[in-house]
Amino acid sequence: MATLRQLRRLRWMLAQANRRVVLPRLHGFEFTDQAWVPGIVRAILTDAIGQGFVKGRVGTLMGQVLASLVRESRAQSILELAAGSAEASVELVNELERRGAAVNYVVSDKYPDLLAFRRASEITKGRVTCIGKPVDALDIPGNLQGLRLLVVSFHHFRPEQAVLILRAAYEGGFPIAIFEPTDRGLLRTLTVGPLVVLQMLILLPRILKAHSWRGALWFLPATFALAWDGFVSCLRSYTLRELKLMTRTFSDGYHWHRGILPTAIPGIRITYLAGAARPMSAQPANRTRAAAECAREISLVEKLWSW
Ligand SMILES: C[S@@+](CC[C@H](N)C(=O)[O-])C[C@H]1O[C@@H](n2cnc3c(N)ncnc32)[C@H](O)[C@@H]1O
Repeated sequence: MATLRQLRRLRWMLAQANRRVVLPRLHGFEFTDQAWVPGIVRAILTDAIGQGFVKGRVGTLMGQVLASLVRESRAQSILELAAGSAEASVELVNELERRGAAVNYVVSDKYPDLLAFRRASEITKGRVTCIGKPVDALDIPGNLQGLRLLVVSFHHFRPEQAVLILRAAYEGGFPIAIFEPTDRGLLRTLTVGPLVVLQMLILLPRILKAHSWRGALWFLPATFALAWDGFVSCLRSYTLRELKLMTRTFSDGYHWHRGILPTAIPGIRITYLAGAARPMSAQPANRTRAAAECAREISLVEKLWSW
């Protein structure tokens, strides 16, 4: 019991220290954004991110928010964008079912990892289905309906692109949920690299089992790439205040929730944003006005955060 209390205290102290110094947003280079990154490196990277999600047991926390949004919006399906290894998707599908909010769950990515998607589909006995073709979160085909979900991926988009993703959901009347475990706290940004190296060493047997000698060959480059991406992801993260500013012009007929979910992992908190149309009150005229205001908002956001 004393250990649990000490752990909670440590978590609280780290969160306080992290909150005190927040770095400015910097949109640096990330390996996972690059089309030329070999498939095996991308697979190792997204698998490690997914494993962090599974081992950190954050599915329960996020499932709570997601289940509420599914109920509030009466969504029939979820379209997960930038789903990577889809390991988070498996957790979320189970969590939604446990909470009585099961829906069709479709995973997609700009660089789809078909093996990982198939695995997710098999584990969930077909409750997760996938889109095999690339789906760009910035240009979602009109036939793809459902609640839009981005897990550990919203920071990949520059402020003006992030606003476009929110705007597309708003104008299409789609509910949207965003979850980000990274933040710009000084402590978090500086410690993410060494923690990633430790995590990769723990994951080495899993990597060798999945990719054999190719896994051994790519282990060091993948570890470097993940540590770098982790560091840059922190610097790219949006604060709650910035998310609030982004959604300001999309509030007519829409209801936005924002918040922070403290995880069991010391120092790691999940920032979330969830929005859905208010039933009966979405007026098309208001939507048009909001769309016109959006252009002004984008330039404001650009000025504020684009370096
Ligand atoms: C950090 S990974 C997150 C993976 C996954 N959501 C998870 O939680 O494990 C970021 C993912 O974003 C994808 N991605 C990058 N740019 C994208 C875009 N414009 N549209 C869709 N996916 C994109 C990458 O292929 C990668 O799988």
